[in-house]
Amino acid sequence: MDKIRIRGGQRLEGQIPISGAKNAALPLLAACLLTDETLVLRNLPHLADIATMTHLLAQHGAELSMAGEHPGGGHMGHVLKLCAAHIASTEAPYDIVRKMRASVLVLGPLLARCGQARVSLPGGCAIGTRPVDMHIRGLETLGAEIELDDGYIVANAPDGLQGGVVVFPTVSVGATENMLMAATLAKGEVVLENAAREPEVADLANCLNQMGARIEGIGSDTLRIQGVARLSGTDYSVLPDRIEAATYAIAAAITGGDVELLGAQSETMEAVIAALEQAKVTVERTDCGIRVRADGATALEGIDVTTAPYPGFPTDLQAQMMTLMTVANGAAMITETIFENRFQHVPELMRMGADITVKGATAMVRGDHDGLHGAPVMATDLRASVSLVLAGLAARGETTINRVYHLDRGYERLEEKLSGCGADIARLVE
Ligand code: EPZ
Repeated sequence: MDKIRIRGGQRLEGQIPISGAKNAALPLLAACLLTDETLVLRNLPHLADIATMTHLLAQHGAELSMAGEHPGGGHMGHVLKLCAAHIASTEAPYDIVRKMRASVLVLGPLLARCGQARVSLPGGCAIGTRPVDMHIRGLETLGAEIELDDGYIVANAPDGLQGGVVVFPTVSVGATENMLMAATLAKGEVVLENAAREPEVADLANCLNQMGARIEGIGSDTLRIQGVARLSGTDYSVLPDRIEAATYAIAAAITGGDVELLGAQSETMEAVIAALEQAKVTVERTDCGIRVRADGATALEGIDVTTAPYPGFPTDLQAQMMTLMTVANGAAMITETIFENRFQHVPELMRMGADITVKGATAMVRGDHDGLHGAPVMATDLRASVSLVLAGLAARGETTINRVYHLDRGYERLEEKLSGCGADIARLVE
């Protein structure tokens, strides 16, 4: 299995192009099931999770073709044409869903378009139990009949989905996206209250409107959808990945570097930028994105961070921020409120010399700008893995990161982007 080897201590300097957002691309791909016309998606990142979703869509009968890449060696993302003129199967099998939980996003579109769907339950994952009860209850509110059968969600709405008011008990990105897609073809008005406000949800809603959907309240916590009889195809570009951009912002900061993140959208990153500025990292908006500078780890300040749904500080950056705090001056308190088991990077960071104490959902980090040293490490999910890459960049000596497949799920050409700015990082192919 491949490994990543990092020799730490290099200051990062240069430019990093930001890819299309994985978590926007996945629901946008699923949206192709809502129409018999062609959906063209641009700026798609080249990632394992995107390949898993396209594999699932092909098995539902969608025809996919690569429409080439933008000039510049593919740095501007891939273009994919998807046409689900005929749905060959309304079943999302366990073998695909177990690889990627976001597969459950086909449930809403299949049910809305075909009046039926059989989708494997995703099960738990490394960061938490992650139930899908809100997806199921939301669809039931729109008139679907749903049973759980042998590990599958079996949903039926032979006369189509109806209007209704869905109040989510807690904010869920995936449940909002599934309901949004289902609601576009419902008979009547659907109101989604306490909806997720993440930019990726807004990206999906904007694309759906371009396909002929009637969604109002985009970007707010109340989405109002007037169902339409059919959606058409469109041509849509995926928004830049705010989590990838912020990860590289932290890479610049932790190495005392100076990096411009090309294409990064600062307006989707306000909580993160505020946290970085509080930690004494300099962030400037430029014509091409954002520029991030720090005067070396000695200048960084420990800060307290609590994760929250958007526009709060993202859970998908908690591990990376914690790594930054391990080299900052003073103490930092990091509290995780979204997932119950998202501190798996802590023992690995401690093996690299970090001083961290966990109590329940809070980690107390005592920073030391010279505290990290290289070590062989591994992690059980994407963001935990990349937090170890960040630690490796700052550490004295050599770090090897095992289980690289986690990184390949969410960071396109990670080694290339970092080595382009001076990092000593290589993939060891075994
Ligand atoms: C999305 O997952 C992202 N994935 C995650 O990114 C991200 O961490 C998460 O949102 C939170 O921002 C994609 O967009 C593909 P949720 P999702 O439903 O939609 C609970 C990454 O690293 N919940 O917003 O699955 C749930 O257990 C990944 O890129 C229920 O209880 O997350 C969690 O505690 C990991 N019942 C909370 O809600 C439900 O029916 C928020 O989860 C649904 C969710």
